[in-house]
Amino acid sequence: MKNTSTIEQQTRIDFPVEKIRRDFPILSISVHGKPLVYLDNAASAQKPNLVIDTIKKYYLTENSNVHRGVHYLSELATKKYEAARVTVQKFLNAESEREIIFVRGTTEAINLVAATFGRKNVQAGDEVLITGLEHHSNIVPWQMLCEEKGARLRVAPINDDGEVVLEEFARLLSGKTKIAAISHISNALGTINPVKQMIEMAHQQGVPVLVDGAQAVPHIRIDVRDLDADFYTFSSHKIFGPTGLGILYGKTNLLESMPPYQGGGDMIKSVTFEKTIFNDIPHKYEAGTPHIAGAIGLAAAIDYMNSLDWDVVQQYEQTLLLLAHEKLAAIQGLRIIGTAKEKAGVVSFVLDGVHPHDIGTILDQEGIAIRTGHHCAQPVMQKYGIPATARASFAFYNTIEEIDTLIRGIQKVKEVFGHV
Ligand code: ALA
Repeated sequence: MKNTSTIEQQTRIDFPVEKIRRDFPILSISVHGKPLVYLDNAASAQKPNLVIDTIKKYYLTENSNVHRGVHYLSELATKKYEAARVTVQKFLNAESEREIIFVRGTTEAINLVAATFGRKNVQAGDEVLITGLEHHSNIVPWQMLCEEKGARLRVAPINDDGEVVLEEFARLLSGKTKIAAISHISNALGTINPVKQMIEMAHQQGVPVLVDGAQAVPHIRIDVRDLDADFYTFSSHKIFGPTGLGILYGKTNLLESMPPYQGGGDMIKSVTFEKTIFNDIPHKYEAGTPHIAGAIGLAAAIDYMNSLDWDVVQQYEQTLLLLAHEKLAAIQGLRIIGTAKEKAGVVSFVLDGVHPHDIGTILDQEGIAIRTGHHCAQPVMQKYGIPATARASFAFYNTIEEIDTLIRGIQKVKEVFGHV
């Protein structure tokens, strides 16, 4: 492992972070009279001008409903909306744009799969397998499904570093398992799961796999075909796009075989009071007027991400993470929660004798935004016997100087609590 000063030097030379920061106007605001240090990217990422301008242009000159009109604006909006689907398809390397469903977010995508694939395929006595790393969105829909069906939710445990115990994951896969649902990267700890390997293990038992990619897509390039994921989900707002939109990728044969999720306009071919003929995928799963501006804004976010050299981005982010780990771990009384070998984007920590909410409040006064609490992943907190952590989460627009500001902020927290 490189030492910190070498890492710092390389980061300064190799990555045009100041240029990138100028693309994100919010990064230059002040909070409580201090320059904003935004380290809450796992909750929601900031938006570049390209996304903001694209959405503004849509509402200024392109707005109309899709798939419904023969007039100029409706055709334009439809063209842009469907082009956004193709942008997502290419981004994920899906085989067809028919495999890309626009939903409200990762949470809705998982609920959709639980309510359609799950209701159809999970019966009494069957099992659904998740891991001990999941956040509530990838626990509760399965729990509800299992309760409804008399099925059993199985949980592959994590070790003390916050890594899924693969032997246990393998042991829990059986003929009874109807689906496995696993996060690609943990929102609470930053652990990167070996999802390709886990998918292979599940497929050996004939078990399809849903991957919750909400925390992965901002940090690593995803190839759903290489992973062989059956379903893959992510949220636009975490990848620098607008809120209120997400993606469900599903393999064609699965999406075609599942019942619809919601009924309404656009998901039908024809309706009589006696019978409705459902539309083909992807529209079968998109009832009602969709988030057109959101889809177009997401495509702009993807265009922005595609304009960066992603190998360098990943290297830079890993450097930030390593530095943050080193500098935080050197603070007396601070314990990092989640020390997996493979991590991205997140450092969770606790400080002796200080509640994480107090850390968050004092840091806020310094202009530093972090998240504190259970991160919608209470079982992860229970594993470590803590109610909450403070979590700093990074994006490629964060800097080494911001990590230093965070460290100074934590020293201030210690001063306030008389720990220095
Ligand atoms: N799941 C999001 C987070 O980790 C909201 O903050």
